[in-house]
Amino acid sequence: MVEPIHLPSRADRSAALERAGHNVFNLDSEDVFVDLLTDSGTGTMSTAQWAAMFEGDEAYAGSRSFHDLREAVEDVTGLPHTIPAHQGRGAENALYGTLLSEGDVVLNNTHFDTTRAHVANQGAEAVDCPVEGAWDHDSEGEFLGNFSIEKAWDVVDEVGADRVTVVVSTITNNSAAGQPVSLENLRETAQFARDIDALFVLDACRFAENAYFIHEAERSEASERASGETASREREAGQHDRPLAEIARAQFDDADAVVVSGKKDGLVNIGGFVACREESLADRVKARTTLYEGFPTYGGMAGRDLAAMAVGLREAVEPPYVADRVGQVAYLGDLLADADLPVFQPTGGHAVYLDAGAVLTDIPAERFPAQRFVCELYRESGVRAVELGEFAFPGAGRPQLVRLALPRRTYTREHLDHVADGVAAVADRAGEYEGLEVVTEPPMPELRHFSARLRSV
Ligand code: F0G
Repeated sequence: MVEPIHLPSRADRSAALERAGHNVFNLDSEDVFVDLLTDSGTGTMSTAQWAAMFEGDEAYAGSRSFHDLREAVEDVTGLPHTIPAHQGRGAENALYGTLLSEGDVVLNNTHFDTTRAHVANQGAEAVDCPVEGAWDHDSEGEFLGNFSIEKAWDVVDEVGADRVTVVVSTITNNSAAGQPVSLENLRETAQFARDIDALFVLDACRFAENAYFIHEAERSEASERASGETASREREAGQHDRPLAEIARAQFDDADAVVVSGKKDGLVNIGGFVACREESLADRVKARTTLYEGFPTYGGMAGRDLAAMAVGLREAVEPPYVADRVGQVAYLGDLLADADLPVFQPTGGHAVYLDAGAVLTDIPAERFPAQRFVCELYRESGVRAVELGEFAFPGAGRPQLVRLALPRRTYTREHLDHVADGVAAVADRAGEYEGLEVVTEPPMPELRHFSARLRSV
């Protein structure tokens, strides 16, 4: 599909920003030229996916499209039981609502916002265990998304193993600059979960991008070995010449359950699922799904959408697709790094993360430098990014990040060149901007960045 995009005049962009209360979530998409708000559900489907949609089976129970999805999930992950959900957070509700009760503790390399909210909703506590340097744009290393076993043991020492009932690894680690998690770390995390008798869950919506990083890291290690250099990291032998789909599947080898938003590497506009190894857990998840999502063979999705996701999951592990995908993100990251802008490198799988706090140094965190950057980027170039700093996570003490997330199979290098020019232009005038303050906000503080209005101060 191709659709026209339009760059409104600078005056119109400024007017749109005023109307939106300096919050790009309040902009109309018609006013946006290049939309990097999210990589979730905003990508382009393939001809094979559209063809599958026409054959969608809309039966209420036991549809052919459900079986197509179940087979695709089993082929891609190795897990035999699939329960669809309308999107990732629906799957989270079904799984975490089943697994957690009051007082439980969940450990995760970093909880994504909706995951944290679902854990809290059960009266449980979400604790992050990122590795050292995960939030620092100066850090170097290939697997900064990893789960820190050391931190996890510290939490266990503090709260007691009995309370930690679920251990999660999020691949890639969206809240830590989209950085990947190594196969080795997944194995260690699973072993840690077994040691404390907890369930091991993968939040795997970007599983294909994560697998690509593992594949590439193994390849670079192999070339280091070939050139006689000593490999700097311990890894299992033989990953580099393993097919990508096999590496993708190996990521799930030790998982008891998986929760997936299909809107990322499912390559669809809507959908998600839970997959389980044991039938007994799947049966419990199905009971909750029936209550909140729908009968467990459609779980809130139309048959045609189940069919499209079945095709998308397989396409996501085709090497030319994923190499191009991750390559696009790296291309944008390199453009910004070459312009001396503080971006996380190597870039993650789905987005470039810019440390706006290190650019707009005159604006203190409580005046939202990253939100100011997002506003000025829109005014400058019609590009919509998202703030992940003090505005989105009040009081969390996180760095003031701007995320530029790339929809899959959608934009060209020319669009990315335009984005990089816009980012550089905003950074060039770093000293000229005012901070922002919140004027109105919704009652739930965790959700304020979706609808709050701000003004310059
Ligand atoms: N888990 C992770 C790691 C995610 O990144 C997301 C969504 C979800 C769960 C929830 O899935 O949106 O289908 O309900 N991330 C999007 C983003 C919204 O922009 O990063 P969902």
